[in-house]
Amino acid sequence: MAWTALTLPIVALCLCIATANARNHFSSGSIYGSILTNFFTNLDLINCPLGETSLPQFTLSEPSEGLSLQFLTLGRGTQNYTCASNTNTSTPEATGATATLFDVSCLAALDADTAGDTDSSDTPSQSLLDLLPDVLRSVPLGSADFLTSLITRFTGQNLVIGTHYFTKDGVPFFDFRGLSSDNSRSTADSWIAAAKDDEMDAPAKPGYGLTGDVAWLKLTRVEGGISEVYRLHTSGGAAPATCEGMPEEFTVDYTSQYWFYG
Ligand SMILES: *[C@@H]1O[C@H](CO)[C@@H](O)[C@H](O)[C@H]1NC(C)=O
Ligand SMILES: *[C@@H]1O[C@H](CO)[C@@H](O)[C@H](O)[C@H]1NC(C)=O
Repeated sequence: MAWTALTLPIVALCLCIATANARNHFSSGSIYGSILTNFFTNLDLINCPLGETSLPQFTLSEPSEGLSLQFLTLGRGTQNYTCASNTNTSTPEATGATATLFDVSCLAALDADTAGDTDSSDTPSQSLLDLLPDVLRSVPLGSADFLTSLITRFTGQNLVIGTHYFTKDGVPFFDFRGLSSDNSRSTADSWIAAAKDDEMDAPAKPGYGLTGDVAWLKLTRVEGGISEVYRLHTSGGAAPATCEGMPEEFTVDYTSQYWFYG
C-alpha cells in the first residue's frame, strides 16, 4: 500500500526534524567524515529532559504525589489473545503483550518547543508525539526494527531503551536495565512488575478511519523501582468482538505511548 511505503520516510524524517529542532547543536569545524555522518552523530535522539512534558487530558487517576516522569517511550509490539472456539459465541481472551520500548523524550522536547511558539489564537494542533502511534501502526513490525537499526547505525544512539512483556504468572513487566548503554537514566532499579489500577476507553479518532485501539491504562507497582505506568494514545491492539473465524491463538499489532513515573 502506498500509505505503508510512505510512512517509513515520514517517521525517519519526523525523528530527524524533531531531534534537530529539540537540540540544535551541530559540531562545528569537524573535518572528519561526511557532513551527513556529522549531522547524524551530533543529534540527540534519546535522554532529552522531560521537565516540560505533561500528561494529556484523561479520566484516569493522576500520578501519585511526589513522583516525576522518568521515561517517556513508544511501545511497539503485539497484544496476544486466545479463543476457546472459532464461533461467534466465544470472545477472545487477552493473554498478555510483548513490546519494544523506544525513547521518545526528544520528540516530547520538540512538542514542548513548538507549543511555546504557537500563539494562543491558534487551534491546538495535535503533537507529533501523539500522532506517532497511528503513523507507526501501519509500519510492519519488521520494518520498524529495520528502521531502528538504521538509526542506531547512523547516530550511534540506541533508541530501544526497554522491553515490555508478561511474566509466566501473567504479570505485566517493563524493564529498562542494560538494554542501551546510551540510556543515562537507566539504573539497576529501572524496572516494574505492575498491576492494572485504572482504565478508560481509547478516545475515538475521527478522521483517521482507524478503530480497535486498546484501552488507556494506569498501572501501579507490585515490585520494582518504577512506581506507576500509563499506557496512552494507543493505536491498534484490540481483538475482534467475537472469536468467529479466529484461530486458538492470535496477536494484534499495536503501538502506544508508555509513561513511567518514579
Ligand atoms: C452468530 O452466528 C449465527 C450463525 O451463523 C447467527 O445466526 C447469529 O446471528 C450470530 N450472532 C451474532 C451475535 O453475530
Ligand atoms: C505474544 O505473541 C508473540 C508472538 O507469537 C510472542 O513472541 C510473545 O512471547 C507473546 N507474549 C505473551 C506475553 O504471550
